Formats: sequence, structure tokens, C-alpha cells
Amino acid sequence: MRTLLYFVGLVVLVLGCSGERSESPRLDSHQAAGAAPAPRINPAIWPQQSPPLPQDPALEQQIAALLARMTLEEKVGQVIQADIASVTPAEVREYHLGSILNGGNSAPGGDNRAPASAWLALADEFWQASTDTGDGGAGIPTLWGTDAVHGHNNIVGATIFPHNIGLGAANDPDLMYAIGRATVTEMLVTGLDWTFAPTIAVVRDDRWGRTYESYSEDPAIVKAYAGRLVEGIQGAIGSDDFLGDTQLIATAKHFIGDGGTVDGRDQGDNRSSEAALRDVQGAGYPVAIRHGVQVVMASFNSWHGRKLHGHKALLTDVLVQQMGFDGFVVGDWNGHGQVAGCSNVSCAAAFNNGIDMFMAPDSWRGLFANTLAQVREGTISEQRLDQAVSRILRVKFRAGLFDAGLPSKRQYAGRYELLGAPAHRQLARRAVRQSLVLLKNEGQLLPVSPTARILVAGDGADNIGKQSGGWTLSWQGTGNSNAHFPNGTSIYAGIRRQVSAAGGTAVLSEEGDYSIKPDVAVVVFGEDPYAEYQGDRAHLDLPGQTGLALLQKFKAAGIPTVAVLLSGRALWVNPEINAADAFVAAWLPGTEGGGVADVLLRGPDGGIQHDFTGKLSFSWPRSASQTAVNIGDADYNPLFAYGGGLTYSDRVSLGTLSEDPQLAVRAGLADSFLSTGDPVAPWRLVIRDTGGTVQVTTGKALSPTGALAATAVDHKTQEDTSLFVWRGRAQLSIEGEPIDLSGQAADGVALEIGYQVIGAGVSQTRLSLGCGPDCAGGVNITEQLAGKLNRGWQLAHLKLSCFARAGTDMASVNVPLEVQAAGPLSLQLSHVKLVPGQADAGCTL
Ligand code: BGC
Ligand code: BGC
Repeated sequence: MRTLLYFVGLVVLVLGCSGERSESPRLDSHQAAGAAPAPRINPAIWPQQSPPLPQDPALEQQIAALLARMTLEEKVGQVIQADIASVTPAEVREYHLGSILNGGNSAPGGDNRAPASAWLALADEFWQASTDTGDGGAGIPTLWGTDAVHGHNNIVGATIFPHNIGLGAANDPDLMYAIGRATVTEMLVTGLDWTFAPTIAVVRDDRWGRTYESYSEDPAIVKAYAGRLVEGIQGAIGSDDFLGDTQLIATAKHFIGDGGTVDGRDQGDNRSSEAALRDVQGAGYPVAIRHGVQVVMASFNSWHGRKLHGHKALLTDVLVQQMGFDGFVVGDWNGHGQVAGCSNVSCAAAFNNGIDMFMAPDSWRGLFANTLAQVREGTISEQRLDQAVSRILRVKFRAGLFDAGLPSKRQYAGRYELLGAPAHRQLARRAVRQSLVLLKNEGQLLPVSPTARILVAGDGADNIGKQSGGWTLSWQGTGNSNAHFPNGTSIYAGIRRQVSAAGGTAVLSEEGDYSIKPDVAVVVFGEDPYAEYQGDRAHLDLPGQTGLALLQKFKAAGIPTVAVLLSGRALWVNPEINAADAFVAAWLPGTEGGGVADVLLRGPDGGIQHDFTGKLSFSWPRSASQTAVNIGDADYNPLFAYGGGLTYSDRVSLGTLSEDPQLAVRAGLADSFLSTGDPVAPWRLVIRDTGGTVQVTTGKALSPTGALAATAVDHKTQEDTSLFVWRGRAQLSIEGEPIDLSGQAADGVALEIGYQVIGAGVSQTRLSLGCGPDCAGGVNITEQLAGKLNRGWQLAHLKLSCFARAGTDMASVNVPLEVQAAGPLSLQLSHVKLVPGQADAGCTL
């Protein structure tokens, strides 16, 4: 009946849009009309140091001799890195590519869960292809780079260490050294050469989705860690280990300014002064360089509107000349394509300004052709090409790559028992213990006796994927179940083990059900995994309230509660803190959940096993809008100060905290529903057909009968749009808790939709706003879509009042967008949000 009404009530409306978006070449914001020119860099104010390794004439001679044997094509190949999802060993042989990487979603055979042996076999294949001199080439071994950013995190069975934010709380530089060594050992098992770590960002606005990749908001901790982690990975300069058989190549990233962008936006603009750039986000680089880091990765962000990938003064004058960096600069994932006048397949400017190796995952082929042509026509000088190739070769020689032989014949290769080796797991468990920060312990509820009856609840209780976060087996860390972590321990499993041994009872119930009243409830909850810009947030309120509801339920039942927060940043969780007797910030601990029990539980003898030693390396916000509160601020007023964290001897009563998130315009929060192709939390994206409903949480999703497929695809940056392909009757919806948009509807606010139509049939397509069961109002957009077929990106503005007239109860909108088609249709969406009074707004696309 409802469907019938839908179609009877069709309103046919006029087309009113649009505004095409330009594809490429792109404009840096500093090129936008009227923008102030970027300030000049004064290299002299930056630390001056000489390269830490003295010039080695024999090495330089080797490099020169090799260079002299290389053709122009081989040289161009050397400066290009392709992703294993888009390149074959045969292509590496043919194009003489200097490097390959596996992006966070790339793995042997496209299988993120491929066994370690498949990684090693593939490493052999690529190495063999690169060293094949059958075509008369120099046969230079290719370098395989990977994001081993919290352990060898792309590999099933590897030890996953806490993400950097937790390690920062541990405040133990020597721990970084040990973690570096363990990570490298596990990498060697699979034959890889190089890790894109450490991230030495100093994050100042916790809305940034990469906050957890940062050790601290305080440059002091980052400085103390950068050198030790580099030494753990590469070995210490001057020691026999340095870049020896058991060490690999490290990367300091992302140079420079990440963590300091406006509003914490990923790939955004850093507008700090040059001195602040040097002293805050830049603080770790001189240290990392002094400790011999061989690679620096350029950052996606810009500084005063100029993209770092094309920033000669910073990449060359500051990094190379002042700081004495003599390794090579690698670009970030198609980062060159964002430089003014560039595209992913062509960017002489990035190369000429200091990028020595392009990270060109899927664009390498076009980039190879264009770069070669640019050298031939002189846009890129041969001298500059030789310089970049020499830098890459210098690193390859230093790393012993020419003598290392087949990856499977190297130290530790194929010793699969080293993945998740007991010693590594013990180290990770210790790191977990050291990273936990105790924020509240009313009535000394902690430590809990292991002989007690303990209920372990919450969606993070028995969820190793959730406790590991992003960059874990998949790029966003989504799609993981406990079975994907054969060596891992969930937080519940860690508690259970100790409690059972001591004669207590640990019961797991995610929903918090119990038949016998427990002595204490431990609620594990927090953020779901995310990475990079998909983790950017508008504020620091925790979306979804499952943890809070559980805590309140137990409180009401008189059960003492311990809250364990899993998060990639400091969050405003005052309601949760109020509802809990004890509150622990556990960050993203990784696979060794047992470390949590080590601290929360007393030992079998009743004594404290391990006290809390973790201290906040990020200031904790007093409100959800206090997103950039940092030690040293003039008006510093966090809830918990930097360095805070209780121990078992502290007796502190917190009192009741304000539960007002102080989000200036609460309604203003509900103004963005889909951004860069993803639902904006707490909104969910779902696809639905006659077979049922599927929530879209990963890059690819299919509705139950296959009528609708959703895929994340690139537009301006990676996976920043979603493509929906209908084969039959199905719908996509953005859903959440009802919000009141009646005021906005009356004020002429419009729904803005960024979209393009790639294929459309004659089927009926409807766009509506839902307001609960049997409540919706919509418009027919069939003809308008047909009219936009293959006409590029469009920007549509639909007045909310149109939906009100068509039947949406604007006071209770729980589906701010629904597109229903009978198929076929291919529709790509970039964003959906509310915008005030638009001249072109009408009642259809
Ligand atoms: C890829 C990941 C990659 C990431 C880098 C994504 O599009 O799927 O593999 O690591 O981009 O930003
Ligand atoms: C990230 C880098 C990462 C690279 C390769 C990029 O998107 O910004 O940190 O090393 O992808 O996966």
C-alpha cells in the first residue's frame, strides 16, 4: 500500500541545477582568485645540521657507476612506486619500477586475509622481476613499502601494537625501540623492505581522523620517540645493526604540517606561522634525520594554501639543505595530483620541487609516460632526474638491497612462528598496560578482585577488530572479526583467563544481560574503526550511545561499573564518565587485550599486579566543541590536563560533570549527512532490496539479492565518493535518529547533493526524506537523472519545504536522503548536506 501511495503521489517538477565540477588540472587554494600569496619560507630559521652519515666516496662511486649504465626509461621507472593492486611483476620488469607498495586495502591476490606465505611468495616474484637483466637493464631490486604502523598490521597473525596515541600515553622511548625491532622482525618474515612509519605528526585538533597516529599534542614526546622508533626499525647509526640483515627502512611522515590543519581537516591547509610549523608539527624531523631515517614522506596538506608536494622551499631548502636529510622523499598516495596544475598522471612540478619518488598507486603507467616525455622535452632536467635516482639508489645500497638476495632467503624470512611470537606479544601486552590512563576511580573500585563475578559488556568487549582500529588488515580496519586474529586476545578473553584461573566468574554479554547479578560490570565501548579522512569529525561527542545506555542500566541496578573507552582520540564523554564508577581510556590497544586485565584486576594473591602508569599525551576536552585544547594554550582549560592520569594510590573524587556538550548550534550538527562519499556519524548508509538491508561500512557492499551495489571510488581524493549501481528494484538510505528540521524547512534551507549519473535506464527513480514507519515525502527524479546522464558532476539544491509538502514530517526526519530506483541506474554521490537559501533551489534535482 505504501509503495502504491508513493507512486500515485508523484510530483513532476522542473529541473533546476547545477554547476559542473572541474576534474583536473586542480587548483591549490592559493591560486584561487583573490587569495593571499603563501608566505615565504626563511630556511635560516630552521635547525641546521649535517647529514648524520658522513659522505662515503666508495658508495657515491657505486651510485655514479650504476647511474651511468641506466637508460632514461630505467631512471624514470626508478622514481615511480606502484601499488600491488594495480601492477604485476611483469610490469615491474618491463617498466623497471623502483618501488611497489601495498596500500591499506591491497594484498596478494586482492585478499586482505591472504596467508603470510602468499606475501613472501609475491615479494619473491616482484624481486625476481625487478632484478631480471634479460632485457639488458641494470636489474635494480625493487623496494616494497608497507604501512606497518602498529606492528606488521596487514598480516593475519601479526602482533598488533597499540596505535601511537596509546604509546604516547606510555611515555617510554625505549618501548618504541623494542616495538620497532619486533615490527621489523615480523616484516622480514614476509620479505618486505620498508615501512611507512613512524608518523611524527603533532596533532592539535582532535577532530582529525588521524589523531590516533600521533603520539602526542606535545612536540616533546614526539621528539623523544621519533629517534628511538627509527633506531628500532633501522638500527642505530654507528652500530653493526644499522640497516643490517635484521633491520629495514623507516619513513618519517608526513612532512610537514599534518596535525595542524584548519579544523583538523585531513589533507587540509595548515595556516600556522613558519616558527610554529617548525616548533610544533616539524619538531620530530631533525631528530628522525639525526637518527638516520632514510625516507621522508611528503604530506597531503598544504601550508597557507600551497600543497606540500610542490613546496620547494620546505621539501628542498628546509628538509634537504638545512636539516641535512640525504635519503629520498616519497610522495603520498597520488598526493602529487593535488599540486596546482597537476593530475595523478602528470606532475613535473612535484618532482622538480623535491619529490624524489612518486607514490602513484594506480596512476603509475600514465605517470611513467608523462614523466619520460617531460624529461625528453626538458620540463624535468636530466640532472634533477639523476639526483632523485641517486638518492633512491643511495638508500638501496645502504640498506644492502643489492646483496640481500631473494626475499625468501633473507633473515627470518618464512619463519611464520615469528608472527605473533610470544616475545612480541608480551611486549605488546606491556605496551597496552603502559598506555592505559585512569581518569576516575570512585570509591577505589579498581583494581577488581579476580574472584568476583564480573559481567563484561559493550560492543568492544569481545571485538579485537574494534580494539585494533584502522590500518588493521584493511585500510579502514573494518570488516574484521576475532577469527581474523588467530594470535589475538580480546579484552573479555583477557579478563576471563585471569578470573577463571583465580576462581571467579567472568560472563560476556555485549548487551549487558545477566541472570545472576554481577559484583561489577566492565563496559567496553567507543569508536568504531576508521582511518584517514573517513575518521574526520565535526566535534568530539561520541556518536552512538550503546556504552552510555549500558552504564546507566547497571548504575540503576546498583551494579558498580568500570568503563573502558576504546578511541582514537580524546572524546567528550562526560555522560559516560558520570555513569561509571571507574573510567579508563584504553585508546586502540591492538591484539593484546590481556594487558587490560593485567591492570584492572588484582593478582591471585589479592595484590595489585600492575598500577596505572599511563599519562594523557593529549589534553582531554571539557566540551564536545573544545576540539583543539593543547598544553601551552593561553586559556588552557581542559577537563583533564595533559599529563593527567590517576594511579591506585590517588584518592580523587570527580563529582558530577556537566552533561552539556556545549555544541554551539546543536541543530547545526545535523547539517551534513554524507561527506566524501561516506555517511557522517552518527548517520548510517544502508542499501536495501527485497531480500533485506545491508549497512555500508566498507569500500564495497551488495544488497542481499544483488539488486544494488555500493562501491567507494576516487574523485578528488581516494574513495571520496560512493558509486551506486542498481540492477533491480532497491534503495539507498541515510538513516539515523530523528532530527527536527521544521525550522530549517521554514527558513528556506535546501538539501545539497553532489552527484553524477553514469548510466540510467527508464526505470522510476524517487528521492525522498523519511520520517519513520509509513512516513515519507518525495519527488520523482527519473527524467532529471536521464537528462544528466554522462554530463559530469552536478550540484543539486532541493528545498526542504518541497519534501514537507510531499508528506515528510519535518519535525522528525530519520532518513535525510533516500533514493529508490527500479533499476538500472548508476549514480555516484559525493556529499549530501543542508545549505541555507540557495537561489537555484527548487523541488527537484
Ligand atoms: C586504498 C588504500 C590506501 C589508501 C591510501 C585507499 O584508496 O584503498 O589501500 O592505503 O587509499 O590513502
Ligand atoms: C597515507 C599514508 C600511507 C599511504 C600508503 C596514504 O593515504 O596518507 O600515511 O603511508 O597512504 O598507504
